Amino acid sequence: MDTKNVKKTKRTNTAKVAAKSSAFNVNLSKLKIKSMDDYEAIHQKALEDPAKFWGERAKSLLHWFKPWEKTLEWDFAKPHVEWFTGGKTNASYNCLDRHIDGPRRNKVALIWQGDPEDDVRIWTYQMLYDRVCRFASALKNLGVRKGDRVVIYLPMIPEMVVSMLACSRIGAVHVLVFAGFSASSAQSRIQDCEAKVVITSDGMFRAGRVMPLKANIDEALKDCPSVRRVIVVNRTNMPTAMKERRDIWWRDVMSDRSLNARLPAVQMDAEDLLFILYTSGSTGKPKGVMHTTGGYLTYAAHTTQLVFDTREEDVHWCTADIGWITGHTYGVYGPLLLGGTTMMFEGGPRWPDPDRFWHIIEKYRVNTFYTAPTAIRLLIRDGDEWLEKHDRSSLRILGSVGEPIDAKTWNWYRDTVGDGKIPVVDTWWQTESGGILVSPIPYVTPLKPGSASLPLPGIDVEVLKEDGKPAKVDEEGHLVVKNPWPGMLRGVFGDKSKFKENYFSRFSGFYLSGDGVKKDQDGYLWLQGRLDDVINVSGHRFSTAEMEAAFNAHPAVAESSVVGMPHSVKGEAIYAFIHLKEEEKPTDAMRSDLRKWVRKEIGPIATPEYIQFVESLPKTRSGKIMRRVLRKIVSGNIEDLGDLTTLVDVSVVEALVTEHELLTGRSSLS
Ligand code: WT7
Repeated sequence: MDTKNVKKTKRTNTAKVAAKSSAFNVNLSKLKIKSMDDYEAIHQKALEDPAKFWGERAKSLLHWFKPWEKTLEWDFAKPHVEWFTGGKTNASYNCLDRHIDGPRRNKVALIWQGDPEDDVRIWTYQMLYDRVCRFASALKNLGVRKGDRVVIYLPMIPEMVVSMLACSRIGAVHVLVFAGFSASSAQSRIQDCEAKVVITSDGMFRAGRVMPLKANIDEALKDCPSVRRVIVVNRTNMPTAMKERRDIWWRDVMSDRSLNARLPAVQMDAEDLLFILYTSGSTGKPKGVMHTTGGYLTYAAHTTQLVFDTREEDVHWCTADIGWITGHTYGVYGPLLLGGTTMMFEGGPRWPDPDRFWHIIEKYRVNTFYTAPTAIRLLIRDGDEWLEKHDRSSLRILGSVGEPIDAKTWNWYRDTVGDGKIPVVDTWWQTESGGILVSPIPYVTPLKPGSASLPLPGIDVEVLKEDGKPAKVDEEGHLVVKNPWPGMLRGVFGDKSKFKENYFSRFSGFYLSGDGVKKDQDGYLWLQGRLDDVINVSGHRFSTAEMEAAFNAHPAVAESSVVGMPHSVKGEAIYAFIHLKEEEKPTDAMRSDLRKWVRKEIGPIATPEYIQFVESLPKTRSGKIMRRVLRKIVSGNIEDLGDLTTLVDVSVVEALVTEHELLTGRSSLS
């Protein structure tokens, strides 16, 4: 009797243990940081032996078809960076295949909330896998091969994720172009990467309204000879012109019964290109930032785990559009690599009411929420009552990204959205970094409102003054990184020299971020905004040179200068100084025409806040516009304009100040 019982108990225990360990077949082992001592120790270890640290991370977070031969090879002076050389892996395989062989098969991979409240799609890993395989198979049939570029110009609909993973499954390079960009912005990106296929939709929903999208592609493709096919998702049912032999509906592509619903993923080299994403630099032309397979994926999974403490049952919501790097890394790759549930939202925060975000958090019981300061500032203005209506008790971590978050906004986020109970992680990074570089470890790093705190383990950040010497405590300098990390860009598409020129030449041997920063006595980093001619409007990056080029292309404009103006919601707003041609009149009609023009040239997100017509611009004797003066004028900081002796005509400045005050209705001295 006794023996029987013992045996029985034993069996049950063993069965339980076995069931537990096989509950999820992929064990994505966690890096445990439970205290600041742990953080310090791991940070030191990672700096001392990066190959060991990142090698272990890459091995535990990803499936490799073949192990790498060399973990890391680098020289910032050249610059040259390679990670996991010789290793073989695949993004789509890591996001899907390894999860569907076990119980995660039926776990929700993607929750999609459409702009209309009743438009919801919930896909399990198996369902996503099926769609990705079939679409990948269709892309192959359309002639897409390894290394070919596919431009994805879609609103926030699940087909975006299917397209990305289908591309990576067959080794094609995805190039997302934010759907808020104009036809002409889309065109220059399609031309630059020489895309073979473009994926778009008939139209898009925005705050209950329907807007065309495919029409932009028709316009763009008037001069894009590389494009053979356009695949069109029917999102809105709007009348849409289809060009014969070029355009094909998504549903027709997918209804082909011969598509392979189990298409095997291609084995990619770790350093094979995974995607290109265009971003604005200090020049007029956007740069195609290149990210490769093994390093990017390792870094996406690693940072998602560290910063969002991903748990099996979590619902993770990153509000960024997938067309930006934040959406790539923390909306798609990071969560899916970890077998998580990611939430995708098609609409905006204030439609139909200003509680849409809080409503969604309550509806799906979101656990980790990641958004931008500009959205938070917008919602603060609507008042706390919109928030109080909703249960937010599911939230465990609040993240911020895209621009500096001021202490006031930070405090509201923590105290009102998070009821003062949960940490706010202010995460600093860039398109080029692939993933977060500076951020608190939630529940571990002591927080200071307004500071992104400390670099993540293994990231060696330094603050350099203009002369290249390290800045002192609280002294502003350039944020640079001393060592490579797996998620960093590997170059600028089609332009070898740009990689060096943009990131490694200002301070030899360092990666230049372009951001200003101060380090306090505790080593905490306080981001100060860009130091180059990049402005950050609502977390979106614009090059002033690109904007000026757009204005200068207008037939009435002689010359222009664009600067960022501090703005209470957007962070920065676009302020344009326009010098019209002799025969043109500076009227309100002209102003609205110029606004329309820029919206068309770049996109609605680039709409200038102010257009100031000027008689002349402040120029030095060598003919350069003194932008520093313009920046000071628009920020209302005219008491200290600095040295003006090199200006040809100082009286120009006075006129500019007066005109600025008239236009904005404020005194620059107030
Ligand atoms: C620039 C990068 C990285 C995701 C979104 C933007 C600014 C980003 C922060 C932050 C202060 C920030 C920087 C950076 N930025 N996050 N937490 N605090 N500034 O990507 O379009 O490549 O822009 O955004 O200026 O250089 P991006």
